Amino acid sequence: METIATPSVPTDKLGRNLRDLRISLTDRCNLRCGYCMPADVFTEDYPYLDRSHLLTFEEICVVAQAFAACGGKKLRLTGGEPLLRREAHVLVGMLKAIPGIQEVALTTNGLLLEKHLPALLSAGLDRVTVSLDALNDGIYQEMTGRKAGVGRVLDAITAAEEAGLPVKVNCVVIRGKNEGEVVPLAEYFRGRKAILRYIEYMDVGNCNGWTADEVYGAKEILADLGARWPLEPAGSNYTGEVARRYRYLDGIGEVGIIASVTQPFCRDCNRARLSAEGKLYTCLFASSGTDLRAVLRGGGDAGAILRETWGNRADRYSEVRGDGTSEKIEMSYIGG
Ligand code: GTP
Ligand code: 5AD
Ligand code: SF4
Ligand code: SF4
Repeated sequence: METIATPSVPTDKLGRNLRDLRISLTDRCNLRCGYCMPADVFTEDYPYLDRSHLLTFEEICVVAQAFAACGGKKLRLTGGEPLLRREAHVLVGMLKAIPGIQEVALTTNGLLLEKHLPALLSAGLDRVTVSLDALNDGIYQEMTGRKAGVGRVLDAITAAEEAGLPVKVNCVVIRGKNEGEVVPLAEYFRGRKAILRYIEYMDVGNCNGWTADEVYGAKEILADLGARWPLEPAGSNYTGEVARRYRYLDGIGEVGIIASVTQPFCRDCNRARLSAEGKLYTCLFASSGTDLRAVLRGGGDAGAILRETWGNRADRYSEVRGDGTSEKIEMSYIGG
């Protein structure tokens, strides 16, 4: 009897396996967070991807199948804002049907979440992560460059919690902008089902004008929280988890801190990223990617290219942090 050989799970040059694929559905967003899509750069005239250049849902699924065949388990849909892509829930359903895929998650700014929640839930979405940098409307609007109100995001989070969908809330903390929101956000989310995580401001992309002084570090965040509610470190949920977890000693929940600047975690990095136009990146800080769309549309074997690309990977940008002069892709292009 003929047997079909199962391909072995590829390991990169630093011994890391591929576990997690982040799929960007669009490079557009309905917000203009200064650290990601500053409004003066991302104007109407910015050269956003043409719709014909975006991978179709079917093409995304071919890549996801190849990813699963490499041992990949987790998929995350990102953007820009992924819910701006029409029928995103249909893709969720298609991805959920791929054998080996254990989890499909979504990262969103939350503005369109409540509207799409029923369809996403029916499609089988496993988890959602909502970006929220402030509780105060004025600070939120300054951070996001738009007139949107926090209430709409909070309502979406509540709706997701009530529907039984696991929720995480991500807050990027920038010195001089929203460090005063660290404690109010913790106060709001303590005791709720949603888990709040703070993210250090990173030097991703080329146009946010990042400076090291603006990084409000994990130590400072922990000191602010600890002064109000004593905390203790909690273990990781899984290898490669980017957030360090802390439990409130009074038993009322936990928070996470993603300290990619002051405590990099490249050693366990098991993520690949697929841009909306089908370029495969093996690091958030890469300057170039592998064109899988050309492979897919040329009748080639995307799986073989994925294995080869992962096998050649030696990325660890956050651990070595270069001189900042190399051209990097934008976070809105590659996804958070
Ligand atoms: P879980 O699946 O809930 O564990 O999500 P996650 O923590 O893996 O992912 P999430 O998309 O919520 O990541 C939160 C933020 O952490 C991102 O928006 C980035 O700012 C940062 N981040 C995530 N992955 C990486 C990474 O591989 N490298 C670096 N430097 N930062 C990352
Ligand atoms: N630093 C840290 N996180 C960032 N994100 C985007 N830009 C940056 C940055 N410069 C992440 C945030 C946001 C998600 C969509 O992308 O987590 O919530
Ligand atoms: Fe949009 Fe998220 Fe970037 Fe803000 S951080 S501009 S919400 S993609
Ligand atoms: Fe992974 Fe690159 Fe982030 Fe390091 S900097 S954790 S290698 S994506």
